[in-house]
Amino acid sequence: MRVGSEKQTIQPIPYQNSSYELAFIMPDIHCIGICTGGGDAPGLNAVIRAAVKSAILKYNWKVIGIPDGFDGLIWPEKSHELTLKDVSGILPRGGTILGTTNRGNPFHYRTVENGVETFRDISGDVIANSRKLGMDAVISIGGDGSQTIAQELFQKGMNIVGVPKTIDNDLSATEITFGFDTALHTATDAIDKIHTTAESHHRVMVIELMGREAGWIALEAGIAGGAHVILIPEIPFSLQKICDYVHEREGYGKRFTIVVVAEGVNLPPELKQLSRGGSVGNLIGDGIALTARREVRVSVLGHIQRGGSPSPFDRILATRFGVAAVDLVARSKFGKMVCLRNARIESVNIADAIHKLKTVDPQGELVQSARAIGISFGD
Ligand code: F6P
Repeated sequence: MRVGSEKQTIQPIPYQNSSYELAFIMPDIHCIGICTGGGDAPGLNAVIRAAVKSAILKYNWKVIGIPDGFDGLIWPEKSHELTLKDVSGILPRGGTILGTTNRGNPFHYRTVENGVETFRDISGDVIANSRKLGMDAVISIGGDGSQTIAQELFQKGMNIVGVPKTIDNDLSATEITFGFDTALHTATDAIDKIHTTAESHHRVMVIELMGREAGWIALEAGIAGGAHVILIPEIPFSLQKICDYVHEREGYGKRFTIVVVAEGVNLPPELKQLSRGGSVGNLIGDGIALTARREVRVSVLGHIQRGGSPSPFDRILATRFGVAAVDLVARSKFGKMVCLRNARIESVNIADAIHKLKTVDPQGELVQSARAIGISFGD
């Protein structure tokens, strides 16, 4: 029987955990599973650690680690119990001790039979295997793709609770996702390093950062790192405007320019026609070199932004999310995802959280502040 499938509200629910409330905890949870899905982010291990610790210390439950997202439930023998000893020392570690994948989807699972690629719905097996392993509920830590799968599994009868994750910080249900702050530190540090060499060599330096759908990392790291041009998916730009800006800076003695580009920018027609599918940073760099006739160098920071030890902010947020997810399970609030609203931990229905991107507001205060200090968006 699925518990917690009462009428769902759209409003976020304040996170409560009073002793009064704990008295109403459903007694039929003995064991939970936990998995990490999608691209990794610094802080995943901190969530796992917090969830395992509070499940054991606060509720006396058994916790099973599911390897490689929901793929782990296709082969139940790969799952294993997580004890306090297993999560000891993982707080400062990047990545995820459980492994992850951003390819697996049990509703559309890829197999190759006799050399032919086929897709099958094996979600029933996944749910059956979770029950075989004794899991009364599952905590799914992941981004939009993983939470979409979590919602479908919930609708099919799995007791599931979500924890949002992405370094891109583009989930509208939560003010901030863990991993973003660490990625921001990494990206800002990279811009700082580019700064000194750009200035020494009088070059235009292009640095491409992550952000497939939203420009949060590029915008915030660009501001923090003192970039001169910031290009993000939310603001259309032209090559000529960037080149004009490079000349303008030279006019007042600045012989170097730092251009920060989000990987998901929409290329203007003049660059689109040159595109051969490589990195947008290289393409924009080539475009500036050809048009402005300046020496340009390009750095693509890539997956360095996803690695490394989580910042204190991310460790704390991840810990709060892990504890809150366990409390949601204890309160039978299945089909919910923890989130941060007004700096407080709350929860939302996963169904209301998925497919809703949080993008940069081109008229918003952050962009206006950047413009006020002379940063160009290439527009
Ligand atoms: O986590 C989101 C993200 O960092 C995007 O910005 C990026 O495009 C993507 O992951 C890359 O993921 P992968 O190389 O693992 O497929």
